[in-house]
Amino acid sequence: MHLLLSQEFINEVKDRNDITDVISGYVSLKRSGRNSKGLCPFHSEKTPSFTVYGDTASFYCFGCQAGGDVIGFIRRIENLDYIEAVKFLANRAGLAVPEEGKNDGLSHMRLRIREQNREAGRFFYKSLYSPAGRQALEYFHSRGLSDETIRHFGLGWSPDGWDFLARHLQELGYKRDEILAADLGYTSRKGGIIDRFRNRVMFPIFDLQGNVVAFGGRKFTEDVVGGKYVNTSDTLIYKKTNHLFAMNLAKNCKSRELILCEGYMDVIALHQAGFSNAVAALGTAVTPQQARVLHKYADRVVLSQDGDEAGQKSIARSIPIMKEEGLDVRVLQITGAKDPDEFIRKYGPERFKSLLEGCSNDIEYSLMRIESKYDVSTDDGRLHYLREVCNYLSGLGGLEREVYAARIADKLHIEKSAVISQSEASARRRARMEKDKEFREMAKNTAGIGSRINPERSANLRASNAEYSLLSMLFLHQDMIDKTAVLLPPEDFVTEFGRKIYSEFIEIHSSGQEISVSLLSTRFSEEECAEIVRIVNCYDSVAKDDYDTLISIIKNERFTPKPQDAAKLSADELLEQMNRLKKKKN
Ligand code: UTP
Ligand code: MN
Repeated sequence: MHLLLSQEFINEVKDRNDITDVISGYVSLKRSGRNSKGLCPFHSEKTPSFTVYGDTASFYCFGCQAGGDVIGFIRRIENLDYIEAVKFLANRAGLAVPEEGKNDGLSHMRLRIREQNREAGRFFYKSLYSPAGRQALEYFHSRGLSDETIRHFGLGWSPDGWDFLARHLQELGYKRDEILAADLGYTSRKGGIIDRFRNRVMFPIFDLQGNVVAFGGRKFTEDVVGGKYVNTSDTLIYKKTNHLFAMNLAKNCKSRELILCEGYMDVIALHQAGFSNAVAALGTAVTPQQARVLHKYADRVVLSQDGDEAGQKSIARSIPIMKEEGLDVRVLQITGAKDPDEFIRKYGPERFKSLLEGCSNDIEYSLMRIESKYDVSTDDGRLHYLREVCNYLSGLGGLEREVYAARIADKLHIEKSAVISQSEASARRRARMEKDKEFREMAKNTAGIGSRINPERSANLRASNAEYSLLSMLFLHQDMIDKTAVLLPPEDFVTEFGRKIYSEFIEIHSSGQEISVSLLSTRFSEEECAEIVRIVNCYDSVAKDDYDTLISIIKNERFTPKPQDAAKLSADELLEQMNRLKKKKN
């Protein structure tokens, strides 16, 4: 499919989009030698295992094994197909995209999904104000929403039947597979189509441009089956973890401060009360992608979660993600009501405003949470409190640690230096634990345990390590490929995966092209490509004079009948591998 765009054009796009540059628009990266590291945007983690390799124009995450080139990164993070990702990057670099002739299927489907969502939004709104929608409308009114607010948010009602919307969409010319692709319906056991949302009050979710991209539907009478909310699943135009409810409205507010709530109703109640900078993440904790969107429009985010345990947990998980993004985080403590919506209804906007003004910063909040767990009037309670609080302080910067250590010392009537030294001990323990964890992960990788991509690896460790080292050497010194192809024909490779990469190297090289991660990504699956990225970046510290040794290891292993498994790898061999990896990581 990507052959619609010429390889030259794709290369040009790649050259004009430095991978470190592009990725740092999404992830805050810290330089570490020639590479950069940061928290992986594709899975949630607290210590960075996401690495960008400038030299090979690639990235790899040791935590979730995501990897690829700059195009692969954009595909994944922006939820685009290959062509769209290339176009996205072309735009970014100010390059004009050559005419392709015809529309490809996916972007057409995207358009159809967008149109259907708009139609569905209208349909739900109309239904709410039809006679049949009376009960739903009463429900919204009973929750204090005005008709103006209902219109402002485009709220609605999905009629009580099996396929009202599906039939409406079909009348408008939408085909069954298009309705399914929009997730507005699903297939019944008999093969018919059933509306995803039936007899629920509807909350449309808009993208930043104001298009409806998804819905949430809330149950409002007991006779409806299913959970409290039904939500649109991810589609070609919607990725739940990237979106924030009401961001399309809140982005217009000038204050560079946003209020992040848990639910639809909280946001709507806040907007109605005049706080038009409220948004919701519609899940539990905020994701790195959402934090990035927040940061585009705000410098400070006030977390205004429900007062229950789930809400507090979500605060605890959201704080580090938002701080990593560089946001100033505040935490608003709701008391006397279970969520902001109820609070506003009970106490009014003025009281909410004073809550906002008095909210604590994230450190004060965390310290308070810790304190609430212990009875500091007893010696035992004080001791346990001190231990946990010092552990928390150990994760803070030096200046912050000083300030808060002083406060804690005052509170407990002990010396500040005691708090500081205890925290430093915690910091050392933490660093050691992180190192251990890294070591274990590396050991696992080195031993090839659980490698789906190369299932022969763990039984042929010696051979496959030699193959990987050789491949990374060849990637780096492509002029050596011709000579190697003569000395070592692909048949001599022990693992099939190694052989496949090697054969591609030879073929690409003999066609006169340069081997790059991007080129390989057109010949291997995404998963395979990620593993290749790991190989070429993590095995390349091999010295050139290892070359002959590597070839003879591969040849020997090939003709050694006994299988060798991970357990048989000698301690020395394992250590040698680890050292190589470490050297590479500085
Ligand atoms: P809540 O249960 O706190 O609901 O879930 P709420 O929005 O405050 O609704 P009311 O006030 O009871 O009417 C918070 C958010 O979590 C998501 C929804 O986005 C909801 O707004 N959620 C909750 C679901 O997606 N599914 C569920 O079953 C429950
Ligand atoms: Mn609520």
